[in-house]
Amino acid sequence: MTSDLGDLRSPPSAPPVPLAARAIDVVREYGDTGNRVRALDGLSLDLPARRFTAIMGASGSGKSTLLHCLAGLDQPTSGRILLGDTDLGRLDDAALTAARRDRVGFVFQDGNLLPHLTAGENIDLGASLARRRPERGWRAELVERLGISDRLRHLPAQLSGGQRQRVAVARALLGRPDLIVADEPTGALDSESGSSLLALLRACVDEYGQTVVMVTHDPVAAAVTDEVVLLRDGRAAGSLSSPTRGRVLEHVAALAAGAGVPA
Ligand SMILES: Nc1ncnc2c1ncn2[C@@H]1O[C@H](COP(=O)(O)OP(=O)(O)O)[C@@H](O)[C@H]1O
Ligand SMILES: [Mg+2]
Repeated sequence: MTSDLGDLRSPPSAPPVPLAARAIDVVREYGDTGNRVRALDGLSLDLPARRFTAIMGASGSGKSTLLHCLAGLDQPTSGRILLGDTDLGRLDDAALTAARRDRVGFVFQDGNLLPHLTAGENIDLGASLARRRPERGWRAELVERLGISDRLRHLPAQLSGGQRQRVAVARALLGRPDLIVADEPTGALDSESGSSLLALLRACVDEYGQTVVMVTHDPVAAAVTDEVVLLRDGRAAGSLSSPTRGRVLEHVAALAAGAGVPA
């Protein structure tokens, strides 16, 4: 005899949150025996898709190393990095280059522009290398939102540090990568340019469905994100959802004091 066991079964579990990227038990060591540095020490981190995550922690805690590994610019000594379902450690050089180019936008601390190309040519560089035509409308919107439309014919040396940084952001966002990785992107900006950059990164998540992970020291910038992950000595040392400036300050202070992260 069959009976309806529907009510007795456990309820179906909630569908898993899709992940844009994952670090699984990642160790990254530099140097060799004698002067070995463990920049990442068994770090695991899930980056949910369509979320804006901030990474905070003291200088030397491994933030930049983590971003380089997530972007496929550096390889862990052990552990795995997944981009969506792709295990970066299993890709050959050509596939890794293609994944980095097509799926990740990286905003470096120093902008990293080519000095002999104009701002506009630097912005188009990724698309040129991928032999893709930049989307004109999106490019115009980006340079407008970043306030650099009248600087496109200038060489990097003719721009301020903040303008160079914004050109680098436009270059990283032009190809609409799934994952945007930004290392202290507001560090060199005045507060107005910093706010418009944060609003743009927020729009990448809310309007365009991209995933952003950003290293920052600024509690105001962190408060724009969905979640703050704290690093200490190359490991995750706590996290904070729906951060506010005040709660970020509390967490950072607790981390610096070596105390547990407040609930
Ligand atoms: N290329 C490298 N060679 C040797 N040590 C490095 C290298 N890159 C980073 N480190 C070391 O790894 C640790 C973490 O560095 P980093 O990821 O840059 O930290 P953060 O971005 O949080 O300041 C530091 O001790 C740093 O000196
Ligand atoms: Mg750094």
